[in-house]
Amino acid sequence: MKAVVIYKFGGPEVLKVSEVEYPKLRNDGIIIKVLASSVNPIDCKIREGFHTKQALLRPLFMGYDIAGEVIEIGNDVKKIKVGDFVYGNLESDSAGAYSHFAQVRENAIANKPDNISFFEAASIPYAGLTALQSLRDYANLQAGEKILINGASGGVGSFAVQLAKEKGAKVTAVCNAKHTTMMQELNPDYFLDYNTTDFTKQKEKYDVIFDVKGNKNFDSCYHLLNSNGRYVTTEPTKGGGIYNLFLKLTQGKSAKYVKMKSNADDLDFLTKMVKSNKIIVFVDSVFPLDALPQAHYYLENNHPNGKVAIDIGH
Ligand SMILES: NC(=O)c1ccc[n+]([C@@H]2O[C@H](COP(=O)([O-])OP(=O)(O)OC[C@H]3O[C@@H](n4cnc5c(N)ncnc54)[C@H](OP(=O)(O)O)[C@@H]3O)[C@@H](O)[C@H]2O)c1
Repeated sequence: MKAVVIYKFGGPEVLKVSEVEYPKLRNDGIIIKVLASSVNPIDCKIREGFHTKQALLRPLFMGYDIAGEVIEIGNDVKKIKVGDFVYGNLESDSAGAYSHFAQVRENAIANKPDNISFFEAASIPYAGLTALQSLRDYANLQAGEKILINGASGGVGSFAVQLAKEKGAKVTAVCNAKHTTMMQELNPDYFLDYNTTDFTKQKEKYDVIFDVKGNKNFDSCYHLLNSNGRYVTTEPTKGGGIYNLFLKLTQGKSAKYVKMKSNADDLDFLTKMVKSNKIIVFVDSVFPLDALPQAHYYLENNHPNGKVAIDIGH
């Protein structure tokens, strides 16, 4: 079978389609014939060598998001059956979604919504779970609250805007004016272009600031937060560590760094939202597996509307 691996860190050109061994079924494992995947910034960061945990693995398997068909199940698997169409994400220590077949645990996949394509389904897990868990578990967003989402047109941001609106929050979306048409579909209450407006210089106050892009730290957002305002970020250096210490020393305002966790129940929740048309999945483009280097380049340079999906082919 074929899979994309890397033998050294670097630009998109280090991604190589290689012949690899079919996975050995574990008792808790589910083997998926992968039909679609998608590109996440974490894939690009790993490719470039920013995540040292993977530094010694050669070859290093790449990719986390999957959608496909269940081919085999281990003895301990309870709910998922052979023949199910599923979607989910491989856990952090077991990448390999850019692959003809991948092994995953039951707690990381769910049945695919039947009203969307495999490309759309594979675009949900990493970004959709991050958005859901950020707003619900980290920000504790409530109906009627005001939230600013910085980086609203990307994978995480496009889900976050829709989930926040669905919750009944008042949403300000920050993104590039290039995404104006997409914003008309997403329909946030307000929309700021980051090229012309620095939101941290505005007077407006918020209950939650979700810094998806991770380029504005807690310090620079502090004055924009209401007295119990929550700053939530995807970037550890901008909102974790020192800020979490700081929040213990201050009253009211808080800062949190999100760490997305695989979760089948959360995927089931997103499935329901998609099936009832409460969430639209924005797939900007689809690249074949052979063109994965171009797909990585595209995500990093072309400002996609939402996600970049991969057609695994067989
Ligand atoms: N901690 C976790 O568990 C976790 C989980 C998922 C993701 N993440 C991280 O979260 C970040 C976003 O992920 P993603 O999947 O949403 O990435 P993405 O699809 O690449 O989206 C990034 C978004 O940021 C926007 N952006 C670029 N420059 C900006 C600026 N100066 N000001 C405001 N927005 C700007 C982009 O807009 P343009 O299209 O105009 O460039 C795009 O909307 C990544 O760094 C990723 O690694 C962390």
